[in-house]
Amino acid sequence: MRILVTGGTGYIGSHTCVELLNEGYEVVVLDNLSNSKIEVLDKIKKITNKEVKFYEGNMIDRSILEKIFDENKIDAVIDFAAFKAVGESVEKPIEYYTNNVSTVLVLLDVMKKYNCKNIVFSSSATVYGTPKEVPITEESETGGTTNPYGTSKLFVEQILKDLYKSDNTWNIVILRYFNPIGAHESGLIGEEPNGIPANLMPYISKVANGKLECLSVFGNDYDTKDGTGVRDYIHVVDLAKGHIKAIEKISKDKGLFIYNLGTGVGYSVLDIINAFEKANGIKINYKIAPRREGDIAECYSDPTKAEKELGFKATKTIEDMCKDAWNYEKNNN
Ligand code: NAD
Ligand code: UFG
Repeated sequence: MRILVTGGTGYIGSHTCVELLNEGYEVVVLDNLSNSKIEVLDKIKKITNKEVKFYEGNMIDRSILEKIFDENKIDAVIDFAAFKAVGESVEKPIEYYTNNVSTVLVLLDVMKKYNCKNIVFSSSATVYGTPKEVPITEESETGGTTNPYGTSKLFVEQILKDLYKSDNTWNIVILRYFNPIGAHESGLIGEEPNGIPANLMPYISKVANGKLECLSVFGNDYDTKDGTGVRDYIHVVDLAKGHIKAIEKISKDKGLFIYNLGTGVGYSVLDIINAFEKANGIKINYKIAPRREGDIAECYSDPTKAEKELGFKATKTIEDMCKDAWNYEKNNN
């Protein structure tokens, strides 16, 4: 089976390419390298001893997509290509809606033309807005997103649902990721945020290697066990494996499916600091700071639907996540 992975040199995409190659899939990657580096391709090869076929281009460009479909018989697409910085999306809504929504319309139209109707889409727990209850199931209400990034994911989910309604020969899996962290155990691929990291684990890693002085813990007065924000962190390799399960699902069952990909366990910011210190023997300098605008107190998944229907269960521990994040940071920065 040949899979087109858009955004395949990015953080989650590169780990997914590794898992796909390990499972014997053929992989074609489209990426415009707007948030990743070409060297990732060599690293994927080093890990797997196999190569992906790479096309550099922007998914908004119909001609590059048509070229890919002309030159390769694509059986399914995993679509990772998007911008993902929440704060930046507030500043640049046009860029975010263009890159996260318009591109998907082009992709779907080209897929339709070539009669490839199997797609796995990267969505996010952010579509649940401020959750009314935790753990969050796939039936929990969506909406109430507070930034264009989150809304772009909600829009694409709706587009996919409408598409399926119009033509039920499409097979669609929407995966709502919780908080992916960590890196491949080889230390060759991992998360490479541009500039100062906005997310917790990359920030902690930069404090650990001395590139940043001190972590600000955004709020310790939430209604959580220790007052700091609680999230469902999932190892990126587990998350990548979830995509294999999704491809297997649409290979045997037909329809539109939505799954949470998380562990079902919530860790607070202080839990993560402690786990990182313990796993790596490094002290993390931190201070309590005011809440970050738009943050919610608690967000963690009920992972049972993915377990029942996909046979997906995250197996890596919080120690694995912290060790692998640091291993990547040490080797690359
Ligand atoms: P990433 O930025 O590392 O990877 C995205 C890749 O897509 C990059 O390599 C980038 O160069 C490429 N890209 C962006 N726009 C493109 C375009 N128009 N044409 C071609 N390539 C393009 O991000 P990631 O963390 O790997 O995220 C992958 C997907 O998962 C995204 O859709 C993101 O919104 C979603 N997601 C991520 C998280 C997270 O915390 N990392 C959480 C939930 C959902
Ligand atoms: N945090 C800090 N200090 C920091 C960074 C984060 O205390 O420097 C805290 C946050 O307040 C939050 C927790 O760490 O309580 C996690 O924050 P992240 O920024 O790492 O992740 P978020 O849960 O805010 O959001 C992430 C992605 C979104 C995605 C969401 C899905 O950034 O794109 O997970 O659950 F939608």
